[in-house]
Amino acid sequence: MSKDQEYHPLIDDPSGDVEDVEPPAKSTWRSKFSHTVLAVLLAAETLALGIAVFALFSRASQTACTVPLHSQHALYSPALEAVEQEVQVYNVGFSSDFSPFQIPSSPELDKMWSDLYNFGISRITKEEAAKLPNKTHAIPGDDGYYIAELDVFHNLHCLNKVRMALDPDYYPDWRISTTNNWIPSQKNATQHVSHCVDWIRQSIMCNSDTSVIVWQWEDYLNASVVKGNVAHTCRKFDKLQTWAKNRTLRKAYDPTVHIEDDIVVPVFYSELP
Ligand SMILES: *[C@@H]1O[C@H](CO)[C@@H](O)[C@H](O)[C@H]1NC(C)=O
Ligand SMILES: *[C@@H]1O[C@H](CO)[C@@H](O)[C@H](O)[C@H]1NC(C)=O
Ligand SMILES: *[C@@H]1O[C@H](CO)[C@@H](O)[C@H](O)[C@H]1NC(C)=O
Ligand SMILES: *[C@@H]1O[C@H](CO)[C@@H](O)[C@H](O)[C@H]1NC(C)=O
Repeated sequence: MSKDQEYHPLIDDPSGDVEDVEPPAKSTWRSKFSHTVLAVLLAAETLALGIAVFALFSRASQTACTVPLHSQHALYSPALEAVEQEVQVYNVGFSSDFSPFQIPSSPELDKMWSDLYNFGISRITKEEAAKLPNKTHAIPGDDGYYIAELDVFHNLHCLNKVRMALDPDYYPDWRISTTNNWIPSQKNATQHVSHCVDWIRQSIMCNSDTSVIVWQWEDYLNASVVKGNVAHTCRKFDKLQTWAKNRTLRKAYDPTVHIEDDIVVPVFYSELP
């Protein structure tokens, strides 16, 4: 029943405590810049700095920070170029407002889930790999390209496995708390589902959604009731899907071939406490 044999489960991977830190400043000044361009850039930079300082001071009064105050940027990801935000209202998921994913287990539902992420192992360029906060490996036989996976797709893979474990009559391989759930590609389903639940917990906490759920008065009930259909700031998922689909690693990746390279993790990340 496992629809994603090619997907690499992260079993046994220690979960890294990646801090939210500012990437190292780039020094890309070139002498060929005219004075005008320099002046404009300097002015823009001064303005940006001013805004940043203002933002920092207005935040400083509200929060106790565990990371340096200047650490307001996301870590580098080659997919940041595809990040765009939009406002979305979730399906509430009860009778009046089901999502298309709330159908019984079936080949159709399996395909809908698989279509969300089953292209999620990507090939990125060496230049992109060199900017990652963590080192990744070169793809054997694909000169200059490195293997990478956006965590959003791993998250979805994990949630799908939890979903399958919740319907063990349909997905017997995913029945947990039994000794008969060893799937060669996914290892021990009990351990895998445990990993997935905890990974999703960390992801939800990491992304701490601050959208506000509200209560509104309903005359017909003579009561105020909780309303889930509120506005959320969301990243456009289809943009990230397009980004990944354009870079899908299509050939089999041979993890037994080691390729040395000269990439050094930026000092700024490796010196984190
Ligand atoms: C799978 O993992 C669980 C929890 O660690 C363990 O109790 C069980 O014996 C394992 N099953 C197999 C087949 O290895
Ligand atoms: C709501 O409360 C008002 C005032 O107590 C009452 O007159 C009315 O009948 C109630 N309506 C319903 C639907 O219970
Ligand atoms: C697809 O990726 C290549 C680099 O691998 C890039 O040059 C191209 O612009 C991308 N196309 C789209 C539609 O994102
Ligand atoms: C990734 O980088 C973080 C931050 O420097 C570090 O804590 C973690 O151990 C690294 N993990 C790997 C697999 O390189």
